[in-house]
Amino acid sequence: MDGPSGSGKSSVSRGVARALGLRYLDTGAMYRAMTWWMLQQGVDLTDPAAVAARAGEPEITCGTDPDGPSIQVGGVDVAGPIREAEVTGAVSVVAAVPEVRARLVQLQREIIGAGDIVVEGRDIGTVVAPDAAVKVYLTASAEARALRRTAELAGTTVEAQQAAMARRDTLDSTRKADPLSMADGAVELDTTPLTLEEVIGEVLSLVKE
Ligand code: ADP
Ligand code: CDP
Repeated sequence: MDGPSGSGKSSVSRGVARALGLRYLDTGAMYRAMTWWMLQQGVDLTDPAAVAARAGEPEITCGTDPDGPSIQVGGVDVAGPIREAEVTGAVSVVAAVPEVRARLVQLQREIIGAGDIVVEGRDIGTVVAPDAAVKVYLTASAEARALRRTAELAGTTVEAQQAAMARRDTLDSTRKADPLSMADGAVELDTTPLTLEEVIGEVLSLVKE
């Protein structure tokens, strides 16, 4: 399951995994965890060589239960801090560094290799799991995506969210390493006019085809 921020990847993937009794992996949380650790360490994020040099160090572990996904760095639970604005504002810069991607893609493939799973991110159908049985590319209008994010977060506005998302969309889709794009064989689903339950239903019908 790939797509831009707020298109519904996490909610839809968790719903599909629950319905099918499968594991679930949020690869965005791994990029966020790497970014949180780099910030903690005081790494200069404007220097890709400095980020690359430290990318092998943090020990990132993820739980794959769709009812309670978890993420730790060096045994510390970082589920809360990785959603804070500081990490959200920095993650696309860290995720553009090829050494970061190589490290996390390797970890993701190890988790995927343990059995059937629903995986969400930006490069799952294109890079991480090009042989996936079902590939979905979720989209939604920029306004709908910003409205959804605003409803989840306290103390923000639709305008601020739309601007932050537009910046991240541009960084994620124009970077050299594994840019966000629709995979060959993926089904595009525009979730703008649909409810979450309708989107989950559409994806389940693709799985059953
Ligand atoms: P992403 O992982 O792509 O950033 P999320 O799943 O985190 O997206 O966020 C989507 C938010 O929008 C959730 O709060 C979800 O409940 C809400 N939402 C509202 N309508 C829909 C829809 N049609 N499809 C998916 N999510 C929806
Ligand atoms: O939930 P949201 O879509 O806002 O973001 P996320 O899935 O938590 O991903 C955070 C960031 O990590 C993205 O903006 C990308 O920069 C990066 N990412 C990536 O490059 N590749 C992935 N497979 C997943 C996330």
